[in-house]
Amino acid sequence: MTYTNATAVAERSARSGPWWREAVVYQVYIRSFADGSGDGIGDIAGLRSRLGYLSDLGVDGIWINPWYRSPMADGGYDVTDYFDIDPVFGTLDGADEFISACHEHGIRVIVDLVPNHTSNQHPWFKEALAAPPGSPARARYWFRPGRGDGGEEPPNDWRSRFEFVGSAWTRVHETDGTPGEWYLHLFTPEQPDLNWGNREVTEEFRSILRFWLGLGVDGFRVDAAPGLAKDPDTSHLGYWDRDEVHEIYRKWRRLIDSHPGEQQFVAEACQIGPDRVANYVRPDELHTAFSIDFLWCEWDAGRLRAVIDNTLSTLGAVGAPATWVLSNHGAVRHVSRYGRTSTGGVDLLLGTRRARAAALLLLALPGCAYIYQGDELGLWQVRSETGDPRDGCRVPLPWSGEQPPFGFSPPDASAACWLGQPSAWSEITAERQTGDQVSMLELYRRALKIRRAHPALGDGSLAWDDGAPPGVLSFTREPGFRCMVNLSAENVQLPLHDWLLPSSALESDLLLPPDSAVWLADGESPTS
Ligand code: BGC
Repeated sequence: MTYTNATAVAERSARSGPWWREAVVYQVYIRSFADGSGDGIGDIAGLRSRLGYLSDLGVDGIWINPWYRSPMADGGYDVTDYFDIDPVFGTLDGADEFISACHEHGIRVIVDLVPNHTSNQHPWFKEALAAPPGSPARARYWFRPGRGDGGEEPPNDWRSRFEFVGSAWTRVHETDGTPGEWYLHLFTPEQPDLNWGNREVTEEFRSILRFWLGLGVDGFRVDAAPGLAKDPDTSHLGYWDRDEVHEIYRKWRRLIDSHPGEQQFVAEACQIGPDRVANYVRPDELHTAFSIDFLWCEWDAGRLRAVIDNTLSTLGAVGAPATWVLSNHGAVRHVSRYGRTSTGGVDLLLGTRRARAAALLLLALPGCAYIYQGDELGLWQVRSETGDPRDGCRVPLPWSGEQPPFGFSPPDASAACWLGQPSAWSEITAERQTGDQVSMLELYRRALKIRRAHPALGDGSLAWDDGAPPGVLSFTREPGFRCMVNLSAENVQLPLHDWLLPSSALESDLLLPPDSAVWLADGESPTS
């Protein structure tokens, strides 16, 4: 059934809060979304050709993973020019036109901002390598002499955030060829950390923000937000989530607020508790921050409820909305996570059933929701063919047809997809799922449509139904909305209701089976 109650729609559109408090944003990993040029790599032309799909899906905006010039040592999170588009994705003019085209489709655009580090191929870093120790060019980064007699030990014991990297320091050769200073990189050695105590760095990023605001973007996703403030000379204080970092975000907030329109920052602030995440979204700092705890939470009613409560209360205390997410470009896809069996295998049917229920939970919770491309198709994690295990969630989308590349590239493409797609994805292409009322795609479409129309959804609060059976998450939102998710092993009796949307075939009108969810309307009769 479709919720088309006219009063509800009118009430909804009368709401006047800022869009970013309740947006549904679709994350585009551009390399794997759609290939317009035929080189096997997703690009702006491909993305633009699919804007109709995104507006039919019913999302409010998109967040595009980095599309700047980059040697791609870390999927574009190693930028050489923040003011230009990498040629593999298109051109700056193309990006400019694309942003306008999104706006014509009613879709907002959030770009990724990578302020913690540049690429080691960035002109600034090349300049730093060519300059002597103590020079202004080196002061934009963190260069330090090593410890030990010959300086052969790293300056301190900091480890990279990527386990496979080891030490967060790499030693350089000075221009005379001798082993010299070390530089800091919280991620790979190809991503040297910027020194945010340096005025040129802060000024450069103000220019970058203004540049993209000038092109009309609606926001920025702030990569590695807790990492920017550090002082390797007082290494016992660590490099993550230091209090000084907030001064940077207060200044950015003033900058964005002085720009006409309503743009937002969304912070990636992971590996800190929700109470610390809340500091990033105080009223004079960033607007929103992902709840990564929700993403990593197991399929367990008690744990999920604890994460939801903790997130809502800590963020609510500073007046910020929550931002829910089930998957992203760096996590095992949730169909596979939720399908893990006790013997270490993956039951994709189980994972898919739970993913359907999780989608209804995600979209019913108060605040914002981010959908990672392919979530709406029910894609699962693929064994990665590259050295990077994260590529298993970055496999190009299956759009149509019976065989790879499933419409990802144009028919006359000159190259194969940059990552292979499983042949089983012929069953779950966007084309195959369109119009199939039991498909994941149609579930997302209907849920997003209801979410847009129903006055209880989006920003606001929830009330748990404490009478729900063990293993069942049940909550209401006013006016007249209830979400129930059954994480127990038993069928569960439903309260008196009118249907809005079930996530799976129900045993009967009165029973909710395990690993499924429903949206119910209290009191009102939804029309078909
Ligand atoms: C991004 C990763 C990236 C890293 C370094 C993370 O927070 O999500 O994809 O590798 O930052 O920029």
